[in-house]
Amino acid sequence: MRRLPIVIAVALACGLPALAQPPAPKPAVQKAAAVKPEAIAPIAAPGRTLLSTKDVMRHIVNPAAEAFWARSGVVDDEKGANDRTPADAANWAISLDSAAQLVEAGNLLQMEGRARDPDGPWMKYSVQLTKAGLAGMAAAQAKDHDKTFDAGSAIYDACYACHGKYIPRPKDSLYKHDIDKDLEAAKKK
Ligand code: HEC
Repeated sequence: MRRLPIVIAVALACGLPALAQPPAPKPAVQKAAAVKPEAIAPIAAPGRTLLSTKDVMRHIVNPAAEAFWARSGVVDDEKGANDRTPADAANWAISLDSAAQLVEAGNLLQMEGRARDPDGPWMKYSVQLTKAGLAGMAAAQAKDHDKTFDAGSAIYDACYACHGKYIPRPKDSLYKHDIDKDLEAAKKK
């Protein structure tokens, strides 16, 4: 068995939407990026970060993941089970592009000035995102249904692991567990 159902179970326990409906923010109306042209001007220094982690999430990581997820997995809709795996070259190309964006996003997250916790698991989770993106690229290049599904799941795991560690839960959260232990347990099953 795939481990997706467990991921979903953990996600549900945490009050998060499951893989089929990824942990999206409401993408509807978001404020424009906080970057003003004058902030971009002194761009010369290589390796200088320009966007906050939040804006990298909003404008790079999340849209890329959404685009990949929209083309992987099966969701139930009014017509029944809807397999979203691409059926044409144009959609496979979007899967490939979005997976590639996630590969490099893992690097962006590790940059000095952005890495929250350079000596902690931050780097590990960033690499996890890059690896999941690579799996997504390989799947899209092979136009492989099951690998696309698995890569979507791996991408989700990377988001979930890092958020569990670095986005503090409210004190009154119903989810009281240690995310690392839960993920470990989920893997063993
Ligand atoms: C290495 C750590 C890390 C990984 C991996 C990661 N995130 Fe994040 N994410 C964060 C942190 C930290 C924040 C909170 C940023 C802040 O509020 O300053 C965040 C915030 C967000 C937000 C909220 C942005 C907002 O508008 O407040 C979204 C959406 C998001 N991440 C999506 C994703 C998705 C989707 C993935 C996986 C494809 C992912 N993230 C992977 C660390 C990570």
